[in-house]
Amino acid sequence: MSKRIFVGYATKTGSTKETAEAIAKTLSGRGFGVDVKPFAQAGDLGAYDGFVLGAPVNGMAWHPDASAFVRANASTLAAKPTAYFLLSLAYGVGRASMKRAIPARLAPSSALAKPVATACFGGVIATEPPIVLRLLFGIKKGSPRDSRNWDDIHAFAEGLAAKLAPR
Ligand SMILES: Cc1cc2nc3c(=O)[nH]c(=O)nc-3n(C[C@H](O)[C@H](O)[C@H](O)COP(=O)(O)O)c2cc1C
Repeated sequence: MSKRIFVGYATKTGSTKETAEAIAKTLSGRGFGVDVKPFAQAGDLGAYDGFVLGAPVNGMAWHPDASAFVRANASTLAAKPTAYFLLSLAYGVGRASMKRAIPARLAPSSALAKPVATACFGGVIATEPPIVLRLLFGIKKGSPRDSRNWDDIHAFAEGLAAKLAPR
C-alpha cells in the first residue's frame, strides 16, 4: 500500500493552491497517494501517513486557516511526519531584513507540531504593489509580480519524499 499524504492549503488568490498542487504532483510521482485540498475539506486525518501544509503570509502572519488547522490537529500532526511551507511577497521581493523575518512566521505552528521540513517561497501579486506596501516591505518598483522560484519548490517537494516516510 502506498503511503497517503494530505497536502492542505489556504489561499486567497490561488498561488498557494498552484504551489500545493505542484508539490502534490511531485509526491505522486514518488509513489505516494496524495490528496491536495483546502484545509476546510480535510476530512478524516487518520487516513494519512503524513502532512504537507501550506499557506500565504497575510498581515505578516501565516494565514489563520493554516495556524488554526495546526492548533486543532496538533497531536495528530505531531505523531506523523509533517511539513510546512509559506508564500510571501516580502520573502520574494522585499528588503533583506523583511525576508529574514519571514521564516519565523512558522514558529508558532512549529512549536505545536514539530515539522520535519519547512520552506518559504516568494509570492504572487496580480498588480503593481501599492506604494504603501512597497515602502513597508522594501519592494523595488518593477519587481516581478510572481516571485515563486519553481526550482526551489520542486527541490523542497523532492526532499520531502524521504522525510515523509513514517517515523
Ligand atoms: C490580504 C493580503 C495580505 C498580505 N499580507 C502580506 C504580508 O503581510 N507579508 C507578505 O510578505 N506578503 C503578504 N501578502 C502577499 C501574499 O503572501 C502573496 O501574494 C501570496 O502569493 C498570496 O497567496 P495566495 O495567492 O495563495 O492567496 C498579502 C496578500 C494579501 C492578498
